[in-house]
Amino acid sequence: MNIKDLYIEFFKNKGHKQIPSAPVVPENDNTVLFNTAGMQPLIPYLMGQEHPYGTRLCDYQKCIRTNDLDEVGDTYHHTFFEMLGNWSLGDYFKKEAISWSFEFLTQVLNIPVEKLAVTIFAGNEIAPMDNETKNLWLSLGIKEERICATKEDNWWPNLELPGLCGPDSEMFYWRSDDPVPDKFNPDDERWVEIWNDVFMQYNHNEDGTIVELPKKNVDTGMGVERTTAILEGKNDNYESSIWQPIIQIIEEVSNKKYEENQRSMRIIADHMRTAVFISADPAGIKPSNVGQGYILRRLIRRAIRHAKNIGIDINSNWEQEIALKILDMYKNYYKELDGNKNIVLEVLANEKIKFNRTLEKGLKEFNKVTASGQDIDGTQAFHLFDTYGFPIELTEELANELGLKVDIEGFKQKFKEHQELSRTASAGQFKGGLGGHGEIETKYHTATHLLNAALKVVVDKDIHQRGSNITAERLRFDFNCDHKLTDEEKSKVEQLINNWIKEGINVTKQEMSKEEAIKSGAECMFIEKYPDIVTVYSIGDISKELCGGPHVKNTNELGTFKIKKEEASSAGVRRIKAVLIDE
Ligand code: SER
Repeated sequence: MNIKDLYIEFFKNKGHKQIPSAPVVPENDNTVLFNTAGMQPLIPYLMGQEHPYGTRLCDYQKCIRTNDLDEVGDTYHHTFFEMLGNWSLGDYFKKEAISWSFEFLTQVLNIPVEKLAVTIFAGNEIAPMDNETKNLWLSLGIKEERICATKEDNWWPNLELPGLCGPDSEMFYWRSDDPVPDKFNPDDERWVEIWNDVFMQYNHNEDGTIVELPKKNVDTGMGVERTTAILEGKNDNYESSIWQPIIQIIEEVSNKKYEENQRSMRIIADHMRTAVFISADPAGIKPSNVGQGYILRRLIRRAIRHAKNIGIDINSNWEQEIALKILDMYKNYYKELDGNKNIVLEVLANEKIKFNRTLEKGLKEFNKVTASGQDIDGTQAFHLFDTYGFPIELTEELANELGLKVDIEGFKQKFKEHQELSRTASAGQFKGGLGGHGEIETKYHTATHLLNAALKVVVDKDIHQRGSNITAERLRFDFNCDHKLTDEEKSKVEQLINNWIKEGINVTKQEMSKEEAIKSGAECMFIEKYPDIVTVYSIGDISKELCGGPHVKNTNELGTFKIKKEEASSAGVRRIKAVLIDE
């Protein structure tokens, strides 16, 4: 049985409801490009909102982390991974969480206690040393020498980041044929972390204050890839049953052996898998130069470059064969893979065709530029980007392989100049494109507040937000409404918003208590989800909403607002997709 099935079955038997994996592109959270942990889609519920499935949940969640994208190629970095998780929303706490973790590891996965060690929270000015957890581990048979207390490493996510947080307890497995030492040292790399139980009982406000949540939660996370490799006794994750079928296809299409081509094959396997999941996502992401689309482009283009490296005929349909294998392996767990199969294949083929047109010439140009052994300046890097479609990170990787550097600042400067010249996009898009949250998303965020306000004026004062999703390409806004908007209503909404934009209204930010905010009439989707002190954004006297931001300073920064689509989302809920066009 697959570890995902074992895990879900185990926690269902402990009274948990299985929840479906959320899309990789967050639906109501524009603070990250992709879901990076199982808890991410559950934030409103961890903050106190009631979950329709109850107080004990479990799932396997698709996660994408792109910070280490360029590290992929070693034995354990992946851009996409699956995280197993079980949650208590104000239900059970440390005792059950710890004993079930222990039971699953030792009884279901049959890991011998001798190969386990744990860390616990050592205490600081926010919370005391976690003796309760220590005693629980001791009572289960973990020896004192195998328990190590730390401050920094046992606070999730870390002591600096705002948001939900709390002390945690991490479980480690001895991955080595060497004898297991009696005393546990978390810095010894042979001890590998496999699971984390977070006792999520605080919220870290933007101003640095840390407040207790109304309920004490448990949030746990176990990586499927790492745990599978460990159980199968593999030191290289890519040799586990998760990756082997994909690696085999790569061996076939390249007619090469994994042993001699590990780095490139790992990169192709990892990047293709992530590209499949991004392009199958309901968010409909396509390769582009901004936001999630830029990550997708980088992944596909880097995979193509490595495919060429190991001698794959890149004009053949190699990418389809790999993608079909991946789709087949995961389709029983994620239904969108089957439903969007053709879209995935089309995205991959189109991007391949586009990049193949210039890749050969681009590589020649790259070789010419570096023939003298000189570093690459900003103009050269920009030329490779603009004319040959080389993402800057790709140029950097090629240069690194020759021991050369790239002037990234110079490149950014050229990029900006070019954008100002062509006036096709704002410099913020570039920022977004490099993985952060750019100006363009910020604009869409403010435009969303204007849309919320305009619908109340034009259609019905009782309209409220039911959902929101922002990418660098568009905003998507769900709201309660019992009818399809008429053409007249839509054009009135557009006109009103564009008038507000032209008026140049200031956007202001205030901090106040939650009660004050509600009394002042501020709009808010889930009141329970907010801490006691909240941020309220006002756009003149047009809109007032509880919101984390960020927003533009003045509406005149927004360009022209245009509704692209108005459709049903679910019963009684309509959905608008809209764009901002630069004038
Ligand atoms: N949120 C914690 C993590 O990502 C546990 O799931 O490690």
